[in-house]
Amino acid sequence: MTGDTVTGMTRYDDDPAGARRAVTVRGLVKHYGETKALNGVDLDVAEGTVMGVLGPNGAGKTTLVRILSTLLAPDAGRATVAGYDVVRQPRQLRRVIGLTGQYASVDEKLSGRENLYLIGRLLDLSRREARARADELLERFSLAEAARRPAHTYSGGMRRRLDLAASMIGRPAVLYLDEPTTGLDPRTRNEVWDEVRSMVGEGVTVLLTTQYMEEAEQLASELTVVDRGQVIARGGIEELKAKVGGRTLRVKPADPRDLAPLAAMLDGLGITGLASPVVDAEDGVLRVPVLSDEQLTAAIGAVTARGITVSSVTTELPSLDEVFLSLTGQRAGRTQDAPAAEAREEAAA
Ligand SMILES: Nc1ncnc2c1ncn2[C@@H]1O[C@H](COP(=O)(O)OP(=O)(O)OP(=O)(O)O)[C@@H](O)[C@H]1O
Ligand SMILES: [Mg+2]
Repeated sequence: MTGDTVTGMTRYDDDPAGARRAVTVRGLVKHYGETKALNGVDLDVAEGTVMGVLGPNGAGKTTLVRILSTLLAPDAGRATVAGYDVVRQPRQLRRVIGLTGQYASVDEKLSGRENLYLIGRLLDLSRREARARADELLERFSLAEAARRPAHTYSGGMRRRLDLAASMIGRPAVLYLDEPTTGLDPRTRNEVWDEVRSMVGEGVTVLLTTQYMEEAEQLASELTVVDRGQVIARGGIEELKAKVGGRTLRVKPADPRDLAPLAAMLDGLGITGLASPVVDAEDGVLRVPVLSDEQLTAAIGAVTARGITVSSVTTELPSLDEVFLSLTGQRAGRTQDAPAAEAREEAAA
């Protein structure tokens, strides 16, 4: 740790590599009775990046976000945001953050414009400034036409956009997005992602919690995987994929008629521990899960020795879903409303 540097109004911790850190968390602990919601969490988020925090239900994601927003006091450990300590400098800290919570926070009875105006006033903007900021954000989040309608008439996606707009009123340097697209349809999810990307383009640092691996792949540059209050893995997406291991060899014969013989040949080789190849007739490829470099070399060697003309041989890293499953033992994308969705599907079947 070096000393804080002063830049305009915000102060950041410099990390040893010289990159500026927007969020620094060390040994953070929060227990609820017997439940260890956070049990010694460390986290660094570099300025201007998106940190994805992944974890199954109950992992401690919202608890972390609430502590970093000063809504909840930690039992132990230390955290700073833009250089401000969550416990000792809550007022300064609140001025540099924005929060889009897991559950919509808009007032249903008020219109979109009234919601934003109210938040602007709470943030000490003058009446005129609050009106101008509300209109600017309504325009930007494509809510201008619905601006004067009560929020309870908004669709789920419109509410989420209003939430995002609300969290941007104070021009935050650091934005927390707690499962911002849970329950949204794919198209609306894409709209939210576009907004997030454009905020990041303007230099905002984002801490994103999600259970959607696709969301993490789309937005985050670094990932932290938490489970039962602890960090169980961290790194770049490719890095985590490589760490979990288990690549897939993908062979595309020039002639699709070679697919079946190729599969039979590989299956019959007796390479120790090599799983059976899977024929993907649609893509005209053969996929073989490989566990080691030795297996990979033996399989490629066998393919070429056979004299079958291949048009491509590649290896694929596991998907982020597979990485998550392997790390947490749970499937990704499970949300509280999943049982309800399943019940609806079952009822419709
Ligand atoms: N106010 C509270 N009182 C008691 N236990 C709590 C409280 N808030 C959270 N917990 C518990 O702490 C743990 C972490 O909860 P948290 O909400 O942080 O998880 P999460 O990762 O956000 O989960 P989800 O993906 O379901 O939103 C859970 O076991 C939860 O039941
Ligand atoms: Mg949560």
